[in-house]
Amino acid sequence: MMDASIKDGKYAADISSIREAHARISSFVHKTPVITSESINAMCNRSLYFKCECFQKGGAFKFRGACNAIHSLDDAQAAKGVVTHSSGNHAAALSLAAKLRGIPAYIVIPKNAPKCKVDNVIRYGGQVIWSEVTMKSREDTASKVLQETGAALIHPYNDKRIISGQGTISVELLEQAPQIDTIIAPISGGGLISGVALAAKSLNPKIRVLAAEPRGANDAAQSKAAGRIITLPETNTIADGLRASLGELTWPVVRDLVDDIIVVDDADIMEAMRLCYEILKVAVEPSGAIGLAAVRSESFRNNPAWRDCNHIGIILSGGNVDLGVLWDSYRK
Ligand SMILES: Cc1ncc(COP(=O)(O)O)c(C=O)c1O
Repeated sequence: MMDASIKDGKYAADISSIREAHARISSFVHKTPVITSESINAMCNRSLYFKCECFQKGGAFKFRGACNAIHSLDDAQAAKGVVTHSSGNHAAALSLAAKLRGIPAYIVIPKNAPKCKVDNVIRYGGQVIWSEVTMKSREDTASKVLQETGAALIHPYNDKRIISGQGTISVELLEQAPQIDTIIAPISGGGLISGVALAAKSLNPKIRVLAAEPRGANDAAQSKAAGRIITLPETNTIADGLRASLGELTWPVVRDLVDDIIVVDDADIMEAMRLCYEILKVAVEPSGAIGLAAVRSESFRNNPAWRDCNHIGIILSGGNVDLGVLWDSYRK
């Protein structure tokens, strides 16, 4: 059975584009493991299934979308390379995917980007082009590179190829743990949750898909409440991957297919990270640990709508942690 509203092709991606992406990228990406912990299950009073995208190449799920986008280019376009403006995991993932295809990746990075993320881009062979911190400077610099090189712009989330690539997580997860009745994933620009929701709800229309968002960057929760995209003048959260705003391709999916957005405090994200390290023995970055924080939050536990969510897939979306910053935060 398939939800007609998804089949209509009304959203940027669909189960066909996600299955095509899966076939295109599966020889390049890791099929990441799903792990469980009796101790964490006892603590949460539910069965949790952790999809370890922190073990994905490049250390985050972003490699799936980047790989799908790069391998969708024809040879002539690919030879000119790819460009993006991002300081985060997408930049590193695009650099790595480009390197594996043997093409250049031009990465526009604002001057205030965290050092470990810049190091990742350089490690994977991306060519760093510095911009000022403002979005305008980032976009202007990227379009200059685009004009000079003819490279293809690959947006971090507002792109069908990216959303389809991220959706492959659900295809794998529901094969690995078909009993899952709920999936929780972080939300920022919404590429991840859009792909995850489109695939999961096509495969199992009854499944619930929840997004987790930090309180200091809760634009998606505000957007859902307002019924339109809300952008915030500034954000404040330790989850450095979750500060972007929704795009016009991701918003309709978030609006229609994401059942709820659970907003959590940074202190709870830190605690969830600690549990990942201490109990699961898995290195997860703050943005990646937020799903576990959401399942432990009072707003989730006390909401009668989620009482029968018994088998929950949690996407540990990334593991690129700057240990210096992390230790400083725990010392505070
Ligand atoms: C580790 C991690 N998790 C989640 C996200 C959110 O992804 P999206 O922007 O597709 O919502 C990001 C985005 O950079 C990320 O780096």
